[in-house]
Formats: sequence, structure tokens, C-alpha cells
Amino acid sequence: MMNLKEQVGIKAAEFVKDGMTVGLGTGSTAAFFVAELGRRIREENLKITGVTTSNVTSEQASKLGIPLKSIDEVDSVDLTVDGADEVDADLNGIKGGGAALLMEKIVATYSKDYIWIVDESKLSEKLGSFKVPVEVVPYGAEQVFRKFKKAGYAPTWRLRESGEKWLTDMQHYLIDLHIPEISKPEQLANELDLTVGVVEHGLFNKMVNKVIVAGKDGVRIIE
Ligand code: 5RP
Repeated sequence: MMNLKEQVGIKAAEFVKDGMTVGLGTGSTAAFFVAELGRRIREENLKITGVTTSNVTSEQASKLGIPLKSIDEVDSVDLTVDGADEVDADLNGIKGGGAALLMEKIVATYSKDYIWIVDESKLSEKLGSFKVPVEVVPYGAEQVFRKFKKAGYAPTWRLRESGEKWLTDMQHYLIDLHIPEISKPEQLANELDLTVGVVEHGLFNKMVNKVIVAGKDGVRIIE
């Protein structure tokens, strides 16, 4: 019996057609999608170009023989498939649990079609059960952290096991905001976009076209 993440990963690969440029997401769910593309390349002679969203995904895709280009080497991406940490009823979402939100948002922005693959535990009426990751440049990062604290966002640093601050693939720090109920995701996104020192944040509001959800009753698509 396939687990839920594998089910949605394989389902999403059905949307990939020969010749497409495909954005390859990051995380344990997206990894099943990437693995299925690898299988189709091997067994069905599928021809695609991948654009990855993290070093980890680049490594996986290279091992599977998926030809890769950077986001700057392609005109646009036909379809990107990625996981998500939380999705609300209006298809706003939080991403970045796997620390790849910046590259993920850039690739998604230049994608014609954008699909999330999740298990049903990620769905909620309103965002807020997952922390909002915010990627910040190291210079002045403590100031940004204090600003979030004053705003009541209960920030915490994303840390490595060694206790040092986590460094993203793009060499930035991550601050996680604990906001139990995000009633206005657009307002919060605007505020974060306007905060000097913030490179990007994990609120992906209304960016996605389809969410493929796996649960105990099977796989369904929300659009
Ligand atoms: C990485 C992400 C991931 O897509 C998100 O964290 C979901 O991961 P998983 O599929 O492992 O639950 O945004 O930055």
C-alpha cells in the first residue's frame, strides 16, 4: 500500500507531458513526484527539462538522470509541482518547512501551471497552525527578529543541530513566526514584503492552480 505522499506524487506526475519544462519542488512529498518522473524517463522515454527549487532536489534529480536547467536558462516553466506545509480554504498556503521557500517561490512565479501535493492533514480553514518561515539576509537580521518580537509574532530562529543559525541554499537565515490564526494572509504578506532585510516569506497566497490531496478516502483535486 502506497503512503499518502507517494500517492499524490505519482498522481501529479500524470500532468507532466513530453517536452515540458517542469519545476521540481522540495520536501518529502515532492521527492515522490521527482522519483516518478525519473521512472517515466527511464521506462517511458519521457523527455523533460527540470528546474529545481533546492540543492537537495538538484541532487535527487541528477541521480535520476533528469536533465536540468536553471530558472534563468529557460523562458518559463510549464508546470511546477511542490509540497506545502498548510493550505487554507482559499488556496493560500504556507511553505518553507524544508527551508527552500525562496527558490520555490521564484520558480513558482515563472510557472504557467502550479500544483501542490499534500496529504489531508495539511488542510485547514485558516492558516496559522504552521509557523510562517521568513528568509532574511544575515546583515541586520537581529534587528528584524526584534521587530517581529515587538509585533507579537513570537519569532524563533531556525537552527541547525549544532545550535548555529540555519543557512539556506541562498545563504540567508530563517526566522519562523508563530501566529496562531492568520486572519488576513494578504495583509501579513504585504507587511513582510515591506520589511527591509526580508528576502522572501513562506506565505504563498493564491499562487497555486490545483491542490492534489490524499486522504483515507483516496485522492482528490481542489481547484
Ligand atoms: C520546503 C517546502 C515543502 O514543500 C514543505 O515543507 C512540505 O514538505 P513535506 O512534503 O516534506 O511535508 O515548502 O521548503
